[in-house]
Formats: sequence, structure tokens, C-alpha cells
Amino acid sequence: MAKLSPSILSADFANLERDIHDIEKNGGDWVHVDVMDGIFVPNITIGIPVVKALRPVTSLPLDVHLMIDRPIRYVEDFVKAGADWLTIHIEADQPQNTLEALDKIHALGCKAGIVLKPKTPAEAAIPYLEKCDIILVMTVEPGFGGQKFMADMMPKVKQLREWMDDINPDCLIEVDGGVDANTCSLCKENGAGVLVAGSAYFKAEDRTEFVKIIQA
Ligand code: DX5
Ligand code: ZN
Repeated sequence: MAKLSPSILSADFANLERDIHDIEKNGGDWVHVDVMDGIFVPNITIGIPVVKALRPVTSLPLDVHLMIDRPIRYVEDFVKAGADWLTIHIEADQPQNTLEALDKIHALGCKAGIVLKPKTPAEAAIPYLEKCDIILVMTVEPGFGGQKFMADMMPKVKQLREWMDDINPDCLIEVDGGVDANTCSLCKENGAGVLVAGSAYFKAEDRTEFVKIIQA
């Protein structure tokens, strides 16, 4: 059993409302929103006004993945815009600021979590574990959709799940990048509870069936 958070990075940006209603219709659980600033990652996508505009069009939780430098500067704006889950990269700032940002997100009543890039080891997450409702493990280099799934990230997923089972069993482990109808099984076997899929969801011939395969 896993939740699917389709990434609107692969949606039609001229028709986001239509594509989000389609996620609802097909049984998707969350909506994954990829925010990129052109500095932390070599791409620029969408920001606070778009999250705010999407908030009233769906009752699905908005799962906002910040790929931005020094996210502490903007977490309040994203929570106020309507994020339900807000994740920040631990590579994007000093540890003290990351810890403070997680506290800030919680104080605003939002679920908070960290993200690890592929080259960041599981151990780097240790200082933050107690403050996490979710931990996102990247299985591609952040920045673009449609890349190949990195199966060698699975030991990291497993390790984080084991640690969180001791510290906070309710914490979710999320996997993002290259997840499709085949790679989803490995993610689930290793303890991921939320799977992000961008291109595989939007390109699926039968999206309802795709959602069922991920959730199974
Ligand atoms: C990549 C983003 C992902 C992206 C995944 O930086 O964080 O959420 O949308 O796309 P796919 O599923 O196509 O790898
Ligand atoms: Zn993402």
C-alpha cells in the first residue's frame, strides 16, 4: 500500500486546473508541486502565486517540494499559500537554518520534511529526524522530470525507514524521480509510503489503472 503524489511538473501548465481535477478523478492521493529557483537546481518552475491559485481548485493535499536555495526565507509564504506538506533540501542551507525552517513550518500548522539529493547519504538526515513528518529521497538529480530511476538509492530508503520506525513510526518516506509501474515495487519493498510520479502518470495510457498499480 502506498500513496501516489502525481507531479504537476509533467502536467499541461496552461491547464493545471483540468489536470488536477483529472488527478482527483483517477484516484490520486496528493498533488506534488515542484518549486525550482534556477540556483539550487538548473531549472525554474513555479512559485508562491501558483500554489495560492491551485489551493481553491482541489481538496487534495498539496505536497510542495522546494528546490530552492535557503528555503527558510520562503517557508512561511508557501504555508500561507496553501501547502499541506512542505519539504526542504538539507543541502540548501546550514543545519541551524534547516532546523529553524522545520520549526517554522510546524508552528504554522503544516507538515514538514527534508529532502536528500542522490549524493547525500542517509546519515546526513540524522540531525533532522525528530522534526520530520516526511522524508523525501530523490531517485534522480533534482531539476527535471523524465529521468532514469536510480535503484541504488533503495538502501537509503530502507535505512531511513528503519530509523524512523524507532523514532517516529508515523513519519512517511517519499520517493521522487523515475517512478513508474515497474520501479514502484522496489520503492514499496524498501519502505516508501508515498511515491511521486510525473511523466509516468501523465503519459500513462490508462491513468486510473496506473494509480491502482502504484497504490497496490
Ligand atoms: C525532479 C522533481 C520530480 C519530477 C519527477 O526534480 O522533483 O518531482 O517531477 O518526474 P518524473 O516522475 O518524470 O521522474
Ligand atoms: Zn519533486
